[in-house]
Amino acid sequence: MAEAQGNIDAKDYGIGVPQDSQGYYLKGSANLDWGMKDRLARVFNPTTGKTVMLAFDHGYIMGPTSGLERMDLSIVPLTSYADCLMCTRGSLRQIVPPTCGKPISLRFSAGSTVLTDLNDECTMDIQEAMRLNATMVAVMVAVGNKKYEGQTIRNLTSTVNAGSRVGIPVLGVTAVGKELVRDSRYLSMASRVCAENGAHVVKTYYCSEGFEKVAASCPVPIVIAGGKKLPELDALKMARNAIDQGACGVDMGRNIFQADHPIAMIQAVRAVVHDGESPEKALDLYETLKNAKVAK
Ligand code: R5P
Repeated sequence: MAEAQGNIDAKDYGIGVPQDSQGYYLKGSANLDWGMKDRLARVFNPTTGKTVMLAFDHGYIMGPTSGLERMDLSIVPLTSYADCLMCTRGSLRQIVPPTCGKPISLRFSAGSTVLTDLNDECTMDIQEAMRLNATMVAVMVAVGNKKYEGQTIRNLTSTVNAGSRVGIPVLGVTAVGKELVRDSRYLSMASRVCAENGAHVVKTYYCSEGFEKVAASCPVPIVIAGGKKLPELDALKMARNAIDQGACGVDMGRNIFQADHPIAMIQAVRAVVHDGESPEKALDLYETLKNAKVAK
């Protein structure tokens, strides 16, 4: 056979050099399959282990939130600064350019809006997430909600089943009802329930007391939501504290797209999350970018 004639003899066996066992850099993820790890590595920067996710899925429960009235004008210019985009399938198809090359954390559960009773949700079809090339799918979990706790946990578990079949990781989003207090006791419980039910990443809120316990007792990476709009320095301080206390990133919306200068703000948040910058230095960066002609 021709192949038997001209082949170079195999000789680079690396005898004596142990094969790298390739540990994984994200907690709780070492035993996942290759596809899951590949997708998570597109969300969390493998060098810093952190992520800046840009959340603009608010419309699915809140309608045209301030800053999201025209997402083609307000969000698209921000996408190149984000590590991952968190959005609904509607906004993905309607405004996110498929050429942007960013990983997508797809809002996978949906149901009632702020006009009625939040958290009465169902989930989408995993085939739809695959069609949209989702990198991760996000499901709301209402721990402690008397009406919808069980339903939303079932949504999470069925999504983990579906995601596991196709290698798509699941983000468990801890919903906080008006009747619940966002303290470390509650947030630890809600985050842990998500992780124990198979979430590969958990999104929760920052709390000023005991957040390190929330992060430590959650066996998978935690990202924090930004919550309501704060003064820029306060939002940067929150991000700094969350990272220092164990968060692996932010999934931030209003504190970026409602800032005076969203492009400057997302870069300031990146400086905190990825470069270890202090909130004060990051605010200086924000002001500099805001005042520079190139920043829009
Ligand atoms: C959460 O469930 C929302 O849909 C947002 O994705 C999340 O709250 C992050 O946005 P923000 O930083 O505005 O709270």
